[in-house]
Amino acid sequence: MKLCIIGSGYVGLVSGACFAEVGHNVICVDNNAKKVEQLRAGKVPIYEPGLEDLLHRNVAAKRLHFTTSTEEGVDGSDVVFIAVPTPPQPDGSVDLSYIEKVAREISAVLKPGQYRVIVDKSTVPVKTGEKVADTIRRYNKGGAEFDVVSNPEFLREGCAVPDLMKPDRIVIGGNSERAVAMMQKIYEPFMAPVLVTDINSAELIKHAANSFLALKISYINAVARICEASGADVEKVADGIGSDKRIGRNFLNAGIGYGGSCFPKDIAAFIAISEDLGVPFTLLKEVEKINHSQRERFLSKIRESLWVLKDKKIAVWGLAFKPDTDDVRCSVAIDLVNDLLKEGAEVTVYDPKGTEKALEFDLIKGAKVAKTPLEAASGAEALIIATEWKEFTTVDLGELKKVMHTSLIFDGRNLLNPDTVRAAGFQYTSIGRS
Ligand code: UGA
Repeated sequence: MKLCIIGSGYVGLVSGACFAEVGHNVICVDNNAKKVEQLRAGKVPIYEPGLEDLLHRNVAAKRLHFTTSTEEGVDGSDVVFIAVPTPPQPDGSVDLSYIEKVAREISAVLKPGQYRVIVDKSTVPVKTGEKVADTIRRYNKGGAEFDVVSNPEFLREGCAVPDLMKPDRIVIGGNSERAVAMMQKIYEPFMAPVLVTDINSAELIKHAANSFLALKISYINAVARICEASGADVEKVADGIGSDKRIGRNFLNAGIGYGGSCFPKDIAAFIAISEDLGVPFTLLKEVEKINHSQRERFLSKIRESLWVLKDKKIAVWGLAFKPDTDDVRCSVAIDLVNDLLKEGAEVTVYDPKGTEKALEFDLIKGAKVAKTPLEAASGAEALIIATEWKEFTTVDLGELKKVMHTSLIFDGRNLLNPDTVRAAGFQYTSIGRS
C-alpha cells in the first residue's frame, strides 16, 4: 500500500522504515528541510539499533522516500499517519498544537474524490481523534472523503525495530469498517494479533499502558525501600513476585527512577486527562512522587558516604535515559549529574552514545566528558552508575580500582553483582540490596 508518515522522529521514522521493509511504499514528510536532506543522503539523525540498515535497504529499493511537502505525501498515499510530537505543557497537559497544525495541513491538500485514512500514531489524549476529524472537516473546502483512525505505537527506544517488526499486539481504533479494513491490510505482513476498538478506547489504551508500566516501576522502587530497611534483596523479591505469570518479571527493575520522553510526559498527561474528565487518577500522583524521590534518596546515600560533595571528583557512567539509545531527554542520569554539579562536585561523565546529544542540547554544563569508562573514573573519589549499559559490566574491576582515588561505587541501576564488586575491594551501594 502507499503510505505517508508525517513527522520523522523516533516513531515516524522507525514506523516508516518497517512499513517499507514489509513491502509498502512509504513517503516520510518532515518540515525540517535539513533533516529531510540528511535522510535522503542516507544519514540517520538518531541512534537506534538496526535502523540504519533498514533505511539504506529500503531507500535503495525505492520503497522509502523523504519530502518536506505534505501535499506530495498526502496526494500519493492511501493512508496518512500523523507522528508528530505531543510535548507536555507546564501543567502536565498535552500540547496538541502540532497535531492540530498537521490536521489543517492535511485538510488543505485533501482533494474531492480521493478517499484517505488519517491515522493518529502520536500518543494523544482520549477524544483527540474526534477533534482531528472535526478540524479536517472544518478546513476542507471540497468535501473530501476521509476517516480518522487511532493506531497507537508501543515501541521502546533502543529496541524500536524489533518491537515494530514483531509487536505483541496492534491496536486499531476506528469507527469506519472501510478504514479499519485498510489498516488491517497494512499490518497483515507483521502477523501479529490485532485488536480492533473504537477510537476513544484505542487512544486510552496507550496512556493506560504506559501508566501501568510506570506504576510497576514505582511499585518495585517502593518495595526496594522496604528491602533496604529490612535487609531483604529487591532483585530476589522481584524474581519471586515476577515469576507469577499474572504479574510478570518485566518492568520490576528497581533503580533511580524512570525517565525518557514518554513515561514522565504520559503519566502527567494521564493525570491531567483524568482531572479534565472529572475522575482524578490520584494513584498516578503517588507513582510520580515515588519516582521523583528515588533520585533524591540515591543522592542521600552518596552524601552519607562522601559527607561533603563540594570539590569531590565524581565519575558518572551513563547519560542516556536507558541503554541502547542516544536519547537524553528527561534522563534521570542527566538530572543526577546536575544535582552533583550544583553541590560543587567535579563531575566527569562517560556514555557510549548519549554524550553528543547531551552536549548539543547543553544539558551537562560544567561536567567534563571522558572517552572511556576508565578515563571517567580516573582519580575519582566515587563512581556512579546511572544507566545500565552492558559495556559497563565488561570493565575490568582490578583496573578500575587502580585508576580510582577511593573505591566507592554507587550503582543506581543494580547493574553489577554486589559480591563480585565487593570481592574486588570496592565499597558498593545499590538500590534495595544490602
Ligand atoms: C516506553 C514504553 O515502554 C513503550 O511501550 C512506549 O511505546 C514508549 O514508552 C512510548 O510511549 O513511546 P521507552 O520510553 O522507550 O518506552 O522506554 P522504556 O524501556 O519503557 O523505559 C522507560 C524508563 O523506565 C527508562 O528510564 C528505564 O530506565 C525505566 N525502567 C524501565 C526502570 O526504571 N525499571 C524497569 O524495570 C524498566
